[in-house]
Amino acid sequence: MKKTIKQISKMKLSHFIVIGTIAGAIILLFAFTPMQQSKEWTAPATANMMKNSVASNVQSIAAGKVIYTKNCYDCHGKKGKGDGPKSGDLDKSPKDFTKEQFQKQTDGSLFWKITEGRKPMASFKKDLSEEQRWQVINYVRTLEIKK
Ligand code: HEC
Repeated sequence: MKKTIKQISKMKLSHFIVIGTIAGAIILLFAFTPMQQSKEWTAPATANMMKNSVASNVQSIAAGKVIYTKNCYDCHGKKGKGDGPKSGDLDKSPKDFTKEQFQKQTDGSLFWKITEGRKPMASFKKDLSEEQRWQVINYVRTLEIKK
């Protein structure tokens, strides 16, 4: 009699291990999914709310255009369509900046992406000051083709 109770409790233990392993695997899967490079590139909510500290005006847009031509044009193309001279060599297409889908993102979201980068796009944290990053965003905003 004692033996059977032991056997039952052993069985339960093994059930626990099986269920525990499955649950653990599911939790790990969920925990690591955002860390993988998902197709969509989304900035964290806190970044989305960041405010552009550089007013959009003739001066900042002109400064942004100079930065864009020097640092972004090769991949993103003259008009931001993602057709720059280097775009053919990339394993991922740069987004089309003229589309509403792109433009509907907040300045904070674009700032975060430019700051962080994602392969093959490098991070511009060191190469561009915060002011320059906001300026280039002000320029990119002028590329939208409104219907
Ligand atoms: C080496 C080529 C390359 C250069 C140079 C480059 N980018 Fe990119 N950029 C890309 C690619 C490719 C993507 C798409 C990345 C992805 O979706 O994972 C991208 C994505 C972006 C995005 C996010 C688009 C979205 O909707 O998710 C922004 C914003 C951006 N680039 C801005 C810039 C700016 C501003 C510069 C210059 C300061 C720049 N990039 C320079 C290749 C480049």
